[in-house]
Amino acid sequence: MTMTLEQVAQAMVAPGKGILAADESSGTIKKRFDSIKVDSTADSRRDYREMLFRSTDAMKNCISGVILYDETIRQKAKDGTPLTKLISDAGSLPGIKVDGGTKPLQFCKGEVVTEGLDGLPKRVSEYVELGAKFAKWRAVIDIGAGIPSYTCIHANAHALARYAAICVEGGLVPIVEPEVLMDGAHDIQRCAEVTEWVLKEVYQELYYARVPLEQTILKPNMVIAGKQSPKQASREQVAEETVKILKRCVPPAVPGIAFLSGGQSDQDATAHLHYMNAMGPLPWKLSFSYGRALQAAPLKAWSGKSENVAAGQRAFAHRAKMNGLAATGKWKQDLEKAA
Ligand code: 13P
Repeated sequence: MTMTLEQVAQAMVAPGKGILAADESSGTIKKRFDSIKVDSTADSRRDYREMLFRSTDAMKNCISGVILYDETIRQKAKDGTPLTKLISDAGSLPGIKVDGGTKPLQFCKGEVVTEGLDGLPKRVSEYVELGAKFAKWRAVIDIGAGIPSYTCIHANAHALARYAAICVEGGLVPIVEPEVLMDGAHDIQRCAEVTEWVLKEVYQELYYARVPLEQTILKPNMVIAGKQSPKQASREQVAEETVKILKRCVPPAVPGIAFLSGGQSDQDATAHLHYMNAMGPLPWKLSFSYGRALQAAPLKAWSGKSENVAAGQRAFAHRAKMNGLAATGKWKQDLEKAA
């Protein structure tokens, strides 16, 4: 049975489920492995991701989809089973990162633009053949003295919209990811202003690119103070400010919003999502598409040792369960102790 793109988008934000972002580029996964003193090789990357995708209960109950990197979507488990099959056998959907990363933006000191539109229709059709159901493109907006510029916001929003149009036409649900970074010392209000500006521009560009919003998912940052800010907001305040800005900017035609974690602690990322859902009813599903906030604990528990696979899977199952509960507003701080 083939699913329509609207059905895929809805499945990605099914109640109590969210997305595992396991699409770290070779450079990023090396950094993660450095933190546990494991060499990053094709085999170690496979073993680590195989451990996650074989966490059967977590995958079946809490993970609607997995974002893969080009290497991983082509990789096989140790026993020869394609990794994409492990994911689909667990009832989850394989997805693929298709952007080519960020590059310095001309005439905009300190700002970047995401590349990768050239040849994208051809790559999309290859990924459809390889079993992908959705795609991701990440744009990066930094807050600092005199930035972001409109030049940067516009260039990134335009590229996101072109990418989304190419994906929908080619048969993949686009995850539209404009990430306002939480690096820096700005307060939550500054993050709110910039996030609102970015989202307004993204939805304008999606409209001009004729993208059917019903077939897309938004992956935004939360509205949160910069990591170095002396004025950190409470969890409830982050939830309130984030929902306020999303309501101003994201049309209800969008089936779901799946947040990135962006460097928040595991439990903060879960708690923020929970408090937002507890504020419902909301015009869209609010869920997660976490990388670090789902993987930090299992990565550490595993530490590259085959005898630790079960411990890594337990750590992953716990975080997946906590976030699944947060996606329906049913998380409680006490439940974290079960870990
Ligand atoms: P984090 O949740 O670690 O921010 O990663 C999500 C992601 O996919 C960033 O593009």
